[in-house]
Amino acid sequence: MAFLRPYEESDFEACAHICRATLPPSLSSTPIATKLSPYLWTHQYTYLSPATCHILDDGAGQAVGYCIGCPDVFAFAEAYPRYVEGPLARDVARPADLEHREPWTILDDGMVDGRLSKVNVAAMAQTAYSARWLLFDGNEHLTARWRATMHIDMLEPYQGKGWGRKLIERFVDSVQQSGADYGEGVWIGIGGENTKVVKFYERVGFRVVEKPGGNADGGADGVNMVRDIPRSVT
Ligand SMILES: CC(C)(COP(=O)(O)OP(=O)(O)OC[C@H]1O[C@@H](n2cnc3c(N)ncnc32)[C@H](O)[C@@H]1OP(=O)(O)O)[C@@H](O)C(=O)NCCC(=O)NCCS
Repeated sequence: MAFLRPYEESDFEACAHICRATLPPSLSSTPIATKLSPYLWTHQYTYLSPATCHILDDGAGQAVGYCIGCPDVFAFAEAYPRYVEGPLARDVARPADLEHREPWTILDDGMVDGRLSKVNVAAMAQTAYSARWLLFDGNEHLTARWRATMHIDMLEPYQGKGWGRKLIERFVDSVQQSGADYGEGVWIGIGGENTKVVKFYERVGFRVVEKPGGNADGGADGVNMVRDIPRSVT
């Protein structure tokens, strides 16, 4: 019987697998993009903020889903060098240029899957190395108010069974109990290829926020959503 539990260091590879198994086509169709993805959207949260990272366990110790994040992106950005010098530098080569941001997509001369452009893995590596590019640029209207952020993914056999709602509640509770300054609550970015999940987030208390520009998470056609988290009454 599956159950929820806190993240443990031994979940590192299983979490990478969950991230890679639930990617949208623009990322899953490129082997290097697939390999890099957990270093942009998973490992920094579990490494730097394990207290706000929650695992769906299959009942035999294997992680099959997660809701992972941090309660305060500003404090998280200050701690980010520890992630860069730890698992990131160990596993992903440091980009030569961390001053000039590469475009997120580039023209695809191979026309893979009929697409004219593909994700630029050099930009992915830059983004993994930069908390500013990952979280803040283009998101100032969000981070000024909602300082927590998160990602949720579950392997296909565990989807649609109510675990997503439970994981979100677990995450929200942990943010509320964290003692961190989470502002008005949590914001998220949803990529343009995955906007079908907006309905899920609406069911679990999020609402769409209009954004002035694009960001690394969603791209220009992505959607941002927020959920308010009241101050805990102690
Ligand atoms: C999106 C995801 C996290 C949702 O978790 P889940 O466990 O499947 O969702 P739940 O079963 O807890 O559903 C919670 C509620 O949302 C609703 N819901 C879920 N998906 C929905 C959808 N696509 N459209 C409409 N409603 C949806 C459910 O009906 C349920 O409603 P209710 O409890 O009010 O009756 C999960 O399906 C998943 O991991 N998908 C693949 C990865 C992904 O897309 N992650 C999000 C990246 S932004």
